Amino acid sequence: MKTDAFEVEVAGEDDMITLGQSLSGWLRKIHLVTFTGDLGAGKTTLVRGILRGRDYHGAVKSPTFTLVEPYELAQQSIYHFDLYRLDDPEEFEFLGAREYLQDGGLCLVEWPEKGAGFLPEPDVNVTINKVNSGRMVRFALVSDRAKAYADELMHCLKVKQEVQSR
Ligand SMILES: Nc1ncnc2c1ncn2[C@@H]1O[C@H](COP(=O)(O)OP(=O)(O)OP(=O)(O)O)[C@@H](O)[C@H]1O
Ligand SMILES: [Mg+2]
Repeated sequence: MKTDAFEVEVAGEDDMITLGQSLSGWLRKIHLVTFTGDLGAGKTTLVRGILRGRDYHGAVKSPTFTLVEPYELAQQSIYHFDLYRLDDPEEFEFLGAREYLQDGGLCLVEWPEKGAGFLPEPDVNVTINKVNSGRMVRFALVSDRAKAYADELMHCLKVKQEVQSR
């Protein structure tokens, strides 16, 4: 059976950045990743790590008020969305989000539930939960494309086996 979900425990902020860096190469294979988790779960921290992995060393903040922050990088653009303050999923259209989703860049979306009905199904959903003093980070591979590269993802996460689908 094809593997479809992995979990890794991440002890602290520095390790979360390192995790994002190790994922950043694998993410070239896909286009849309959603990040689910409570306020302060660590979603932006993981996005910051992904951007560090793409050699972006500037500030990375949750674009809570602007809703999207584009990073026009040399090899591939990254669009970081935070939909927390989206009052109505329809507003998602006004952000020009469709163009972002279609231009071949990588879209990283915090609070995807706020864009329900407008945001397409992601390739991967990342769920972050607080455990002890760290975080449990779960990767659910949704698209066939993401599943086709499951072994490579396991390799870069250094996990040995899948977890049960939930
Ligand atoms: N693996 C981790 N272990 C412990 N603390 C962490 C971990 N990753 C991130 N943090 C801490 O969690 C805090 C909040 O992180 P972050 O801003 O990334 O959350 P967020 O999920 O993006 O929140 P929001 O929904 O408000 O945008 C930061 O202080 C960060 O240092
Ligand atoms: Mg955030």
